[in-house]
Amino acid sequence: MKKLAIFGSGTGSNAENICRYFSNSNCVKIAFICTNNKDAFIVSRAKKLEIPIVYTTKNSLNNFTKLRKKLNDYGVDYIILAGFLLKLPVKMVNSYPQKIINLHPSLLPKYGGRGMYGANVHHAVIKNKETESGITIHFVNELYDEGRVIFQKKLVVSVNETVKSLEKKIRLLELEYFPKIIEKILLR
Ligand code: GRF
Repeated sequence: MKKLAIFGSGTGSNAENICRYFSNSNCVKIAFICTNNKDAFIVSRAKKLEIPIVYTTKNSLNNFTKLRKKLNDYGVDYIILAGFLLKLPVKMVNSYPQKIINLHPSLLPKYGGRGMYGANVHHAVIKNKETESGITIHFVNELYDEGRVIFQKKLVVSVNETVKSLEKKIRLLELEYFPKIIEKILLR
């Protein structure tokens, strides 16, 4: 049995989707959902799904003592970042080599790095008149959005695309592919 911890700071639609995807699995279990934002909708989702919630802060994350203990206590094998906005400390990344997986709403290396999250990404894509965008699933290293790419899926950006319409198209790709790619990595 592989155990996952999902980290998120926002609405948690991907977190919920992953939890539902593995809810009847004999091979994968969600140990807990970790957030740095106690007001985020991801908290309500975790409660509804009856998944334990672990709260962290920027300081506590950087210190990594309490969180390391939680991860060990729950026997977490893989960490999934689904809209987690804090940068992970190097000691955490080094403790889970090739075991931390992030989802990014663009075709990295384009539109990655500090400040490139959520609608900011889609704004930039449209402003630069890109003809395609997509999603990237990658391993996390100590640099923002620069770990080894596991999977990408492209989509066409239409001439009259808006931030909202692009966001919607990207979201559909994320919901379709993220759990499947996680499963593939976990069970390889
Ligand atoms: C997703 O678009 C993901 O690509 C990015 O953050 C967003 C999280 O959305 N890393 P949600 O919290 O899963 O709704």
